[in-house]
Amino acid sequence: MTADLYAESGEFIDVFSRDAWQAFRPPVVAALHRAVPDQGPFLDIGAGTGLGTLLVAETLPSAEIVAVEPSPILRAVLLSRLAGSESLRPRVTVIAAGIQDWQSPARLGGVLAMNMLGHLDPEQRRRLWAELRARLAPSAPLIVNLQPPAEVTTVPPTTFASITVGGRTYQGGGEARPAGDGTVTWTMRYRTLTPDGSVERDLVVAYPWHVVSPAELLDELAGAGFTATVGELDVVVATPRG
Ligand SMILES: C[S@@+](CC[C@H](N)C(=O)[O-])C[C@H]1O[C@@H](n2cnc3c(N)ncnc32)[C@H](O)[C@@H]1O
Repeated sequence: MTADLYAESGEFIDVFSRDAWQAFRPPVVAALHRAVPDQGPFLDIGAGTGLGTLLVAETLPSAEIVAVEPSPILRAVLLSRLAGSESLRPRVTVIAAGIQDWQSPARLGGVLAMNMLGHLDPEQRRRLWAELRARLAPSAPLIVNLQPPAEVTTVPPTTFASITVGGRTYQGGGEARPAGDGTVTWTMRYRTLTPDGSVERDLVVAYPWHVVSPAELLDELAGAGFTATVGELDVVVATPRG
C-alpha cells in the first residue's frame, strides 16, 4: 500500500469538492443513464468522500455499488455517509485499497473514476483499461474526467474554492510545476481564515500528478477496445467497442 496522499489535506477535500460536483452533475448523470446495473455492480474508483458515489446511488436506485478508496481519512467520511443512510448502507461496499491492488468483480454494470486519473501512472492506466474492457457489460459506460494541465507545464497559483462554515472561511488553491517523467507536482494550499481575515491555519501539501492529454487518453482507450468521447467539463465516456 502506498502512502496516503490525503493524510493532511483530507480534512478539506469534501468541502472543496461540493461546488465541483454540482457542476459535474449534468454530464455524469447523462452518462450514468447508460449503466446496466442488472448486469453487475457499479464501480466507483477513488471514491474519496463519496460525492460521486451518492450521485451514482441517486441516479441508479437499483444498483449495487462498490467504492474503492485507499485513503483512510477520505474513507472515514465515505463510511460515515453510508452508515448514516438507511438506503445506502445495504448497497454500497467500501474497499480499502488502491485500484491496482484489488481484483474487481467479473462483470461490471458501469464504472466512475472522477478526479483521480492523475494518481495513476501510464502502466497502471493501461492495465486498468484492459481489465475494465474485459469486465464491463456490453454498452456499459466507463466515466472518467481529464484535469489540467493537459501537458507538463507550469500552472500559476490559483484559488479554486472558498467556503464559509460558521465563523471560519476555508480557501483552497494550488499551483503546478513540471517534475519530469510525464508528471507535475501540484502544491496545494489550504487556508483557514477568521472573520477579520487573518490566517488561522495555513496547510501546504504537495503530490505528484501524471499528466495525460485528451488525445493520449482517447488513444489509450481506443487501444484497449473502447469507443470514447470527451464531453462537457472534460468528462470522458467510454463504452466497450463491438
Ligand atoms: C481528488 S480525489 C477525488 C475523489 C472523488 N472521486 C471525487 O471526485 O470527489 C482523488 C481520489 O483518488 C484516490 N486515489 C489515489 N490513488 C488511487 C489509486 N491508486 N486507486 C484508487 N483510488 C486512488 C484518492 O485517495 C482520492 O480519494
